[in-house]
Amino acid sequence: MTKLTSGVVGLFSGMALVILAGYLFVASGRMPVATRGEPLPLERTLARTALHAAIGKEEDLPAPFPADEKHLVSGARIYRAQCAVCHGFPGQPPSAISKGMFPKPPQLLPPEKGVTDDPVGEIHWKVKNGIRLTGMPGYESTLSETEIWEVSLFLLKADHLPPAALQAAREK
Ligand code: HEC
Repeated sequence: MTKLTSGVVGLFSGMALVILAGYLFVASGRMPVATRGEPLPLERTLARTALHAAIGKEEDLPAPFPADEKHLVSGARIYRAQCAVCHGFPGQPPSAISKGMFPKPPQLLPPEKGVTDDPVGEIHWKVKNGIRLTGMPGYESTLSETEIWEVSLFLLKADHLPPAALQAAREK
């Protein structure tokens, strides 16, 4: 064997070993599939890096209208109907559904900071596209663009909402 051939053979046997070890780990039942427990090493970092890269420049998209009372009240109603079961009703403890999920949906209303310091374009991307394998739904086919921006603005302003929007988020 030439040096090159033995190098290539070595490289492929090394790769085959890594794949085999990965398969044995998964097939052994030790890979966490239930919702309890902590993330695997690197799981969170990899998921965040991939998400950030996918959002890319859309993070800089500005909302097409201002966060005025009318749009925030509308955003509050959408939040209540579509999001609160996972991300929290105002002034209430997290729901059983959110407690039983992995990853746990972050609580997005005060006293939590939520996404109030994220760019609104990033919030909009997540609501529109969803986040695969987390339980976060994509709303592209069920909410209009206007509704997606309204609920994104509602979350951006969650720490200083006008009373009418807070009221709308609480209404039954
Ligand atoms: C079935 C539960 C569920 C529903 C309903 C839901 N989400 Fe989520 N959402 C999640 C989970 C879980 C995550 C965390 C994903 C992760 O860890 O990457 C998340 C993440 C997010 C984030 C990113 C939070 C952060 O800290 O970066 C935003 C913003 C968001 N959701 C907004 C919404 C909005 C707005 C709605 C309603 C239109 C909604 N979600 C409905 C489960 C849900």
